[in-house]
Amino acid sequence: MKKLILAAASLAAIALVAPASAQSPIVIKFSHVVAPNTPKGQGADKFKELAEKYTNGKVKIEVYPNSQLYKDKEELEALQLGAVQMLAPSLAKFGPLGVKEFEVFDLPYIIPDKAALTRVTKGKVGQDLLKKLEPKGIKGLAYWDNGFKIMTSNKPMIHVADFHGLKMRIQSSKVLEAEMRALGAIPQVLPFSEVYQAMQTGVVDGNENTPSNCYTQKMNEVQKYATLSDHGYIGYAVIVNKKFWDGLPADVRPQLEKAMAEATEYANSISQKENDDAIAAMKKAGTTTFHDQTPEEKAEWTKAMQPVIDEMSSRVGKDLIAEFQKEANAKTN
Ligand code: LMR
Repeated sequence: MKKLILAAASLAAIALVAPASAQSPIVIKFSHVVAPNTPKGQGADKFKELAEKYTNGKVKIEVYPNSQLYKDKEELEALQLGAVQMLAPSLAKFGPLGVKEFEVFDLPYIIPDKAALTRVTKGKVGQDLLKKLEPKGIKGLAYWDNGFKIMTSNKPMIHVADFHGLKMRIQSSKVLEAEMRALGAIPQVLPFSEVYQAMQTGVVDGNENTPSNCYTQKMNEVQKYATLSDHGYIGYAVIVNKKFWDGLPADVRPQLEKAMAEATEYANSISQKENDDAIAAMKKAGTTTFHDQTPEEKAEWTKAMQPVIDEMSSRVGKDLIAEFQKEANAKTN
């Protein structure tokens, strides 16, 4: 795969130095790992529709869903090398790139609700985080929402003790690793595209993910239990290869920015419903038993996971966590 990325990247490098007029239309490859019928999948398709419309065909967006082109880690390498131009990785996947501050979004119960999330992503904390990508040759364009996570496995997960010894798949985030250990589970990092099979073959017992991701990957077929815990969050940073973006013709970039702003609004407006519908669909399918947490159970989980915030403060940044919490908990009126 590395060779393929390099071959694609050398072609892309030629394209980067060629005058824009020589390439008609300009092609933007937008790679992602989830299904088209998810908040991110639909956001990407909306961006394609609007970008092609606003640029009058000067730009062609090729969307590659479902890890068709690259898996989690590879896609970031491919973006840096210029083999793809646009991605929307989960905020939990920037650690391996060296921008571990994004893992602040993975801290347990750090985002009380969607209004808090919007304050953080639109405010200074969110915008400063995007700027941290620039030395890596990456420009952050927007935050796209998915939703709060549920826990799934083949055993009921009511009390913290139920996690003891469970092999739980996580995204590549040290915070998520600490969170699973705090629960007594054994964390296992796996690319998203491998989760279903890992569940089916017993390589992992369960995972934490959004209902939309669980449903569109058919995880409910291979997971007997789910707890609606909302203990953490999954969202995305839409990112581009900075050199490519900065080199776009002056009559094209503003149109793409406009398309991105509207696609962002669209993606964020459908995310909650997509997740609510996914829960309803999985309940209807009947293969998974869903558990609604009582306030006492939630308090028990919170207590077990709370130490992760202190434990991870040297990695993520004590000041950043404090600023994040301040913004998230700010009273709006
Ligand atoms: C996961 O790996 O579970 C998620 O990050 C997938 C995604 O992009 O939503």
